[in-house]
Amino acid sequence: MEEEIRALKARKNAVVMAHNYQPLEIQRLADVVGDSLEIAVKAKEARADLIVICGVRFMAETAKILNPERKVILPVKDAGCPLADFLTPDLIREAKERYPDAAVVVYVNSTAEVKALADITCTSANAVRVVASLPNDTILFGPDANLAAYVQRHLPEKTIIPVPPGGHCYVHAGFTLADIEAARKRGATIVCHPECPPEIQEQADRIASTGGMVREAAAGEGPWSVFTEREMVSRLRVLYPGRVFYEKPEAVCADMKMTSLADLRRALEREEYEIVLSPGVMERARQAIERMIAVGA
Ligand code: 13P
Ligand code: SF4
Repeated sequence: MEEEIRALKARKNAVVMAHNYQPLEIQRLADVVGDSLEIAVKAKEARADLIVICGVRFMAETAKILNPERKVILPVKDAGCPLADFLTPDLIREAKERYPDAAVVVYVNSTAEVKALADITCTSANAVRVVASLPNDTILFGPDANLAAYVQRHLPEKTIIPVPPGGHCYVHAGFTLADIEAARKRGATIVCHPECPPEIQEQADRIASTGGMVREAAAGEGPWSVFTEREMVSRLRVLYPGRVFYEKPEAVCADMKMTSLADLRRALEREEYEIVLSPGVMERARQAIERMIAVGA
């Protein structure tokens, strides 16, 4: 299967990009493995005929928006992000009516239609930097209320209003103070994703995006308890075989696990499922994402 996929990639002049939460067998076949921001930047630069995004829908949509001339495909049509589903265009419009002077900052974990209403997007790797770059005192931030709290803690001079108030990722919301206690007993450094609840962020030793975890682990030492989707630990173990990393076995993103090798082979063979978005939505969303890229990681 792996050989067939490699042959198809070459024949179709395809580039395969996988998120850090993808199954390891998919990561092994990918040309790029990274966090949401890294995938977006690489997708924008890609010159291949076919861009295959192994991840969830918002990642493939972002790739298409940034590189509209290319054919972008998502191997599993229904691979979505329940966090993204918290935020609708109507919720943004209503919030904007109530706070007309506020800037709208939208996490990339959102639909293209929602991004099209944003002043700027952000990822977990650059959320603080993006918000700090804005002149507005009030920021409407969605859909992740935990990431909003993280930004608020770093920028107390701003008023960050989460839209909706309780948007969250169920995988990261599952981390509890009991997990913190267990990690402390093991003597591990606690590294958490900013999608974890505020009480977990306050107890963690480090907070980082998934790409940030990869970079920071290069310089880190001693055991780490990694508070994010468990595949992140598989990736860290591959990159740093001498190190000890603990995962939470129940921290699984079901949508990220939908992609199998058979799906990837079929996706390359049939060039499905192609991402198609309306030109108006793409253009407005592109401006919001490009502004984020200009701010940097
Ligand atoms: P990263 O941008 O840190 O990879 O996060 C994406 C995501 O979906 C986290 O749950
Ligand atoms: Fe969405 Fe959470 Fe899965 Fe990330 S881990 S893709 S935020 S559901």
